[in-house]
Amino acid sequence: MDTKFEEKNAIGVAPAHNEVADEKPTQRAWTTREPYGPAGFRGLFSNHYVALCAVFATIGGLLFGYDQGVISVTLTMEQFLERFPRVSDTAAGAGFWKGLMTAMLELGALIGALFAGYLADKLSRKYAILVSVCIFTIGSVLQTAAVEYAMLTIGRLIGGFGIGALATVAPLYISEISPPEIRGALLVLQEFSIVFGIVVAFWITYGTRFMPSEWSWRLPFLIQMIPGFILGAGIVFLPFSPRWLASKGRDDEALVNLAKLRGLPTTDSRVYQEWCEIRAEVAFVQEVSAERHPTLQDGSRGSRVKLEMASWADLFKHGCWKRTVVGTGIMFFQQFVGINALIYYSPSLFKTLGQDYSMQLILSGVINITQLVGVVSSLWTMDRFGRRPLLLVGAALMCISHLIIAVMVGEFSYDWAGHPAQGWVAVAFLFFYMLSFGATWGPVPWAMPAEIFPSSLRAKGVALSTCSNWFNNFIIGLVTPPLVQNTGFGAYTFFCVFCGLAFLFTWFLVPETNGKSLEEMDKVFKDVSSEAEEAQKARIEREIIEGRRGTYNATA
Ligand code: BGC
Repeated sequence: MDTKFEEKNAIGVAPAHNEVADEKPTQRAWTTREPYGPAGFRGLFSNHYVALCAVFATIGGLLFGYDQGVISVTLTMEQFLERFPRVSDTAAGAGFWKGLMTAMLELGALIGALFAGYLADKLSRKYAILVSVCIFTIGSVLQTAAVEYAMLTIGRLIGGFGIGALATVAPLYISEISPPEIRGALLVLQEFSIVFGIVVAFWITYGTRFMPSEWSWRLPFLIQMIPGFILGAGIVFLPFSPRWLASKGRDDEALVNLAKLRGLPTTDSRVYQEWCEIRAEVAFVQEVSAERHPTLQDGSRGSRVKLEMASWADLFKHGCWKRTVVGTGIMFFQQFVGINALIYYSPSLFKTLGQDYSMQLILSGVINITQLVGVVSSLWTMDRFGRRPLLLVGAALMCISHLIIAVMVGEFSYDWAGHPAQGWVAVAFLFFYMLSFGATWGPVPWAMPAEIFPSSLRAKGVALSTCSNWFNNFIIGLVTPPLVQNTGFGAYTFFCVFCGLAFLFTWFLVPETNGKSLEEMDKVFKDVSSEAEEAQKARIEREIIEGRRGTYNATA
């Protein structure tokens, strides 16, 4: 590795003229930021290129949703149960085997999400996506060709690994390439494609279940490889994340990629400002890492491994722990507000209301479409009103929905036939819940972790938050069946309480991040507030602007 320092900015960019603060040592270089264009949904149309890159990256979310959706109908198919009799309802211990098969995906995803942070830092965001797609494809081939239970389950474990990694790296990549004013809208695309994947998978399996052969379930597994291939082949042509490039010392490339993503020349003052802020953030975290872990800076393999461990621990230390609480906390509540429990149990609710099998499936498919409609609204609301209001309103609406369903189920479920109106009230609030979740707690928890962590810890922070999603998803899968079986309306009361806690959690702990650049999050969280650190940042920024700070070039 040939490493050299240059004494000036390698590309002769004119320094920005807008709002550069004057020479106070502790004052940051820029006090304001001129936006690139309109905020939110409208901004998507003024920056086609970045929107296209983000849409493309969210195919990862589509694969995740698809896999989640495929299994629900597949598990009810005769042709599937004949091949894997172990999971059919009449078999001894079917519940366990069914649970194991479903949970394998979550387990794989949990491990995949943990590794994704490392892969994304080491290989780059875009090549980490490529590797994840390859692993996902191996899992899909095993599932499509499965001849016995073990093969199918291992296929789901491997496929899950790929999905977990994709679900971590895609939002990370999107957040790092987006201009702040449309970052929320672009991150919503991740949730949109998850739910879109669920809907597509649901209706594909709904159609293929009529096929007489084993293709009824093999075909849906095969089809999921198509978006995987598209993602794998296309990602190679997308630009690197400028923030990742800067973290590797490739500052000039970072500038070129940033300008390309913004559709502006490298000399544009806004591009220049963002580039300087990115570099300043990278330099700052490197200085802090050197101060925190002075004995691990020699670059040897042992030190690198220890530094890797130490930076996981840094997530819980001063400067980051509040963000870790927010990232993992909103993912915890996203699952504990009961979304997957409701999706899972909706067919039985529809059944108790006297609907036949086909209608139960149709209504279950429709509730996912309702969720998707909610998600679409957040493309506009997230950058317009901000993250906090959405979370607060969503928690309140879902709390009310659960409460009403709990009352209906508690009072009338012993005889729905005699109380059809009350039954339909419960169903109506189930739909209302789906809409509210889709508009608020569906997208925001996928968006926020990718924007709150400092660049040095972003990949790990997002990975940990995604793990929190998978882990709590898994826990919900375990606790819901006994809860519903033993308590009936108690399940809804349980989730109602968690919606209330989600409201309090947001009220007291979740700050607004709307419209802030990723580099401004320190101020948002007020955790790098000590004068010394502010002065350190100000000094670095000034050194960069004045060309006194060398561009660090690491050529492999
Ligand atoms: C995801 C959500 C999604 C939901 C739909 C969850 O596991 O985290 O984002 O909307 O599943 O079922």
